[in-house]
Amino acid sequence: MTDTTLVAEPAPSLQTDIPTTDGLALRGLRKTLGGRDVVAGIDLDVAKGELVSLLGPSGCGKTTTLRMVAGFLAVDGGTVAMGGRDVTPLGPERRPSAMVFQNYALWPHMTVTQNVAFPLRTRRVPKAQIADRVRAALDLVGLTHHATSKPTAISGGEQQRVALARAIVQEPDVLLLDEPLSNLDAKLRVSVRDEIRRIQQRLGITTVIVTHDQDEALSVSDRIAVMHDGRIEQVAAPAELYAAPATRFVASFIGSTSTVSGAFLAAVTTPSAAGDEVLVRPEAVTLVADGPVTATVSRVLMRGHFAEVVLTAGESELRSFVTGPPPVVGSTTGVRIGAVLVYSSGVLVGGTR
Ligand SMILES: Nc1ncnc2c1ncn2[C@@H]1O[C@H](COP(=O)(O)OP(=O)(O)O)[C@@H](O)[C@H]1O
Ligand SMILES: [Mg+2]
Repeated sequence: MTDTTLVAEPAPSLQTDIPTTDGLALRGLRKTLGGRDVVAGIDLDVAKGELVSLLGPSGCGKTTTLRMVAGFLAVDGGTVAMGGRDVTPLGPERRPSAMVFQNYALWPHMTVTQNVAFPLRTRRVPKAQIADRVRAALDLVGLTHHATSKPTAISGGEQQRVALARAIVQEPDVLLLDEPLSNLDAKLRVSVRDEIRRIQQRLGITTVIVTHDQDEALSVSDRIAVMHDGRIEQVAAPAELYAAPATRFVASFIGSTSTVSGAFLAAVTTPSAAGDEVLVRPEAVTLVADGPVTATVSRVLMRGHFAEVVLTAGESELRSFVTGPPPVVGSTTGVRIGAVLVYSSGVLVGGTR
């Protein structure tokens, strides 16, 4: 790796009260880069065997956070604990963790076997043991038939699995993956995603996956930590995150939402709290023959097994997901609004489920 921020001796930890969780615990993690608080105080507990995704838009500090957890980047504040042990002052090779890098970072001149064996060789693991462990790791990721191939001779998905094998061969307590699927095409992404989850559950490894892709996070995670501007906005299980996004940012980042405004507000039957913004998911907007509000169908976008229908009433617009035959553009329809989310100054203050 050519990262200039790589450090041999990270600064000693500034805190002494180390959480006793047997998984991973981050407390007050900070990093300033280029005069900006790129990571501005991250607290996160990942239970042993749990998979937590760090989800957020590009530039929000995910990679920086993961590199501090792995030990490739010194913290400017806070602690990293693994298995109840403070590892903040330790370099990456002395932490019980392994990281899969976004670009895989495979050695092109080495075979698949040599790549996977590399971390064991640098740790001076006995030769016979290396052979056994590498074989088992390649078997686990289904790459035995490519054991003697060079990385350049295999596909992107296979390269990703080599990188994964190189991490799990180290038998880490904590597995860290940075955007593991971002270089793969859509179809492959789903199969490698399922593969990662299967292996993670089978081995019971405490895992953190960094991603900007909500589908990826929603489908593999036990819990998701949504990051925004160097902070975590909410940590919750996927279903909870979707049903009750704690902030306006989380609501707009996960799934789609429309702001209910103007004439459409009359269709909200149960405003359970006072707020300055009412949001609705498209699946909670239904077209009915006779509704509290009448709207015009202004656009229909086919999205596969459902259509996204854009509805207009006066100046206001609302989106609805319609399964079955979509309405005709230009027609009018009644609109009913089910569950809503009510925000005040960007914070969830109420709603209906
Ligand atoms: N070495 C660096 N010097 C200055 N700024 C950096 C450096 N590394 C990252 N950054 C900035 O920190 C922010 C967060 O980066 P990163 O952690 O890579 O975000 P993410 O992985 O969420 O896309 C970005 O705005 C990035 O430009
Ligand atoms: Mg990144």
